[in-house]
Amino acid sequence: MGAAIQSPAAPRPCAAFRFHSRSPEDTHAVARALSGVLDAGLVIALRGPLGAGKTGFVKGLAEGLGVDPGVVSSPTFVIAQEYPETGRGVRLVHLDLYRLEGPAELEATGFLDSLDARSVVAIEWADRIPEALPADHLEITLARTEDEDAVREVVAAAFGWRTQAVLRRWGLCLDVAGTVSLEDLPCP
Ligand SMILES: Nc1ncnc2c1ncn2[C@@H]1O[C@H](COP(=O)(O)OP(=O)(O)O)[C@@H](O)[C@H]1O
Ligand SMILES: [Mg+2]
Repeated sequence: MGAAIQSPAAPRPCAAFRFHSRSPEDTHAVARALSGVLDAGLVIALRGPLGAGKTGFVKGLAEGLGVDPGVVSSPTFVIAQEYPETGRGVRLVHLDLYRLEGPAELEATGFLDSLDARSVVAIEWADRIPEALPADHLEITLARTEDEDAVREVVAAAFGWRTQAVLRRWGLCLDVAGTVSLEDLPCP
């Protein structure tokens, strides 16, 4: 028998698209659309500076999951906020790592325990803990644009098979609704 053939390392599956949100309502609507197509266990890494719309996005997600968006605010000081499980059987966990001091504090938030099959974990300032994120996560980057106050460029990227499937369903949903127009991107 010859030596076993080593298959080359599979390329990391990845997909990405970009769109423009023209108002806070647009951001709310696209996030709500995501809530309709996601699977429990999803980790959403939200990136972008203060005022980019990260919390606004989580509000839309919350509403779609059956949580009152009025109770959602950036958990800047408490770091982690867990909302009660709703009819969808999914528990939304919302983190804001803006003031995170280090890995020990991250552990104290219970973040690692919240990565389970029943939760959807949305993390503001996720770029502070790149090494703690599961490889297969959805990354959403919001940026102000120079044209208008209320316009945000949004780039969504998926880094694994599971989140790639979610990204495709979400893209299809946004396309059909026509709220925003999507542009495919090469992987970041
Ligand atoms: N297209 C948009 N999407 C999201 N928020 C927007 C948009 N245009 C203007 N805004 C405003 O920007 C601010 C975003 O705040 P927030 O969601 O708390 O940001 P972050 O959590 O990123 O700091 C809100 O005041 C919102 O009304
Ligand atoms: Mg915020």
